[in-house]
Amino acid sequence: MITFGILGCGRIGRVHAASLAQTDGARIGAVSDAFDSAAQALSQVTGAPARTTDEIIADPAIDAIIIGTPTDTHFDIIHAAARAGKAIFCEKPVDMSADRIRACIAVVEAAGVPFMTAFNRRFETNFAQVRQQIADGAIGPVEIVTIQSRDPAPPPIGYIQSSGGLFRDMMIHDLDMARFLLDEEPVQVFAVGSALVDPAIGAAGDVDTAAVTLTTASGRICQITNSRRATYGYDQRVEVHGARGMLRAENVLEHSVELATEAGFRRAPTLNFFLERYAGAYRAELAHFVAALTAGTVPSPSIHDGLRAQLLADAAAESLATGQPVQLA
Ligand SMILES: NC(=O)c1ccc[n+]([C@@H]2O[C@H](COP(=O)([O-])OP(=O)(O)OC[C@H]3O[C@@H](n4cnc5c(N)ncnc54)[C@H](O)[C@@H]3O)[C@@H](O)[C@H]2O)c1
Repeated sequence: MITFGILGCGRIGRVHAASLAQTDGARIGAVSDAFDSAAQALSQVTGAPARTTDEIIADPAIDAIIIGTPTDTHFDIIHAAARAGKAIFCEKPVDMSADRIRACIAVVEAAGVPFMTAFNRRFETNFAQVRQQIADGAIGPVEIVTIQSRDPAPPPIGYIQSSGGLFRDMMIHDLDMARFLLDEEPVQVFAVGSALVDPAIGAAGDVDTAAVTLTTASGRICQITNSRRATYGYDQRVEVHGARGMLRAENVLEHSVELATEAGFRRAPTLNFFLERYAGAYRAELAHFVAALTAGTVPSPSIHDGLRAQLLADAAAESLATGQPVQLA
C-alpha cells in the first residue's frame, strides 16, 4: 500500500484525490494547501488529515507526494521531497524554466527517487490506442502528425498574465503529445501566432491562436494548432499519417446518438473541458504511477520528458519572437 500526501487542494489536487480513492494499492495519508479552508475541505472529502506541506514531506509514513500546487512552487517542493526520499508525481509543467528543471533533475537523480511528470493525455484511451498501434506497426513508419487542440473559451486575463504564455501553459501538452506520437525527437521548431480571440491577450504580450511545425532529423513533420476559443466546445483531435496507413482519434462527445432529419445530421456536444474529457486519463496516469511504485519499475513520462516538452515550448516562443525556425540540439 502506497501512502500519498496531496500537496495543493485546488482544481487538480481534488481530481487526483478522487482518482486515488479509486486506485488499488494507494491511500491518502494527508493533504495540504496554502489556504487552510481548501485543505480542510479536501480533508473532509477524503478523510485524510490536513497538515502543512513541510509536515507531509518530513513524515516518514508518507511514501509519495502529488504536487498539485501552482507551477512556481514546484521547484522548492521537488527539492525538499527528493531530499526526504519521497516518490514524486508532479503536475506539468515541472517549472517554467528549463534550467530550473535541470536543477530538479539533478536533485531527483541524486536522491534516486521515482518521479513522474503528469502529462495525462498520454493516458487518454484514444490517444494511448493511437500510440499502441504505431508501436505495433499498424501504419508503418510515422510521417506526419497533426494535433488540433482548442479550448472552449480563454481563461481570465489575470491567468494569462501569469501563465508563461500559450506555448508553455497550453501547448506544452500538445508538444508532449507530438513527442509521444512522432517516435523521434524534433530538431526544429517554427511557430506563428496571433491574438484573434481577445485583443487583451495580445496586449498582455501573449497569443491566443498559434501553429507550430516540428521537424525531426529524418524529416518527420508534426503540425500543432491551438486556439483559446472553440464555439463548439473542447476540441482535442490527433491524426498520424504513416507509410502504410493513417490513425485518427476524434473528439469525445457527451453521447454517441446522431439525429438525422431533413435539416441534416446532428451530433452531441463535445465533453465540456479538460476535467471531463480527461477524467479517465487522470485516473489511468495515477494507476500507472502506483503500479510502477508497487512493482519497482520506472514510471513514465519522466522528468526528462518534462524538460523536453519545456525546451520545445521555449523554442516555439523564441521562433514566434524572431520569425525564424529554431534548431534544437
Ligand atoms: N494536467 C492537467 O491537465 C492540469 C490541469 C490543471 C492544472 N494543472 C497544473 O496543476 C498545478 C495546479 O493547478 P490548479 O489549476 O490546480 O491550481 P489551483 O490554483 O486551482 O490550485 C493550487 C492550490 O495549491 C495551493 N498552494 C499554493 N502553494 C502551496 C503550497 N506550498 N503547499 C500546498 N498548497 C499550496 C493553492 O492555495 C491552491 O489551492 C499547476 O502546475 C497547473 O499547471 C495541470
